[in-house]
Amino acid sequence: MFEPPSWDERYSGPEQVFSGKPNTQLVAEVTGLMPGTALDVGCGEGGDVIWLARQGWTVTGADFSTNGLVRAARHAEQAGVAERVDWWRVDARTFAAGGRTYDLVSSHFLHPPDGGMLGVARRLAEAVAHSGHLLIVGHAPSDAFTHLTASHRKAMFLAEELLAGLPDDFDVLVAEQRPRTMTRDGVTMDVHDSTLLARRTS
Ligand SMILES: C[S@@+](CC[C@H](N)C(=O)[O-])C[C@H]1O[C@@H](n2cnc3c(N)ncnc32)[C@H](O)[C@@H]1O
Repeated sequence: MFEPPSWDERYSGPEQVFSGKPNTQLVAEVTGLMPGTALDVGCGEGGDVIWLARQGWTVTGADFSTNGLVRAARHAEQAGVAERVDWWRVDARTFAAGGRTYDLVSSHFLHPPDGGMLGVARRLAEAVAHSGHLLIVGHAPSDAFTHLTASHRKAMFLAEELLAGLPDDFDVLVAEQRPRTMTRDGVTMDVHDSTLLARRTS
């Protein structure tokens, strides 16, 4: 689950892996922001990219899975937003913005192994434009995930654990675990979304 081949395999079957609906915390935090440029890292099948494009954002969807990006591009085409989006194959663990900046950098449910999300947060923050926002959401560790392997559970994080990755010129707007009901494989469970929203002030 931590390297491209396993995600490429997941995205190679006939079934859509995710619902295609935008993530709850994305809608909660981005509705009301002035649309601009956005980078969605770990975009998967493109549900969030498509929602952002429909809100008027110009969006780059980024993922390390080639199959995911191909699938996301097809979904964006079908949704009629292809002209507002482009795609970037990146590994978040080594991501370098290379001088590119975005009004919104978001990442949802990307869980690098061994506490790697702190390093990813630090890298993503570099891509946030002046007055732009960084939104990172992931699974908080929970009893709901005891069926997963130890390495999967270790990859989950609390929003507060990412604060050390923010440069000094960020204001933290949200750093909390938000309750949400999730249904997966027909099973409904109560989980918490670790949610970090920060704004660059300079
Ligand atoms: C659980 S899925 C979430 C997809 C989408 N953000 C959503 O919420 O529906 C995680 C995604 O992150 C991607 N991913 C995982 N590790 C990554 C990494 N190190 N760099 C880039 N993408 C990664 C996977 O390929 C997958 O598409």
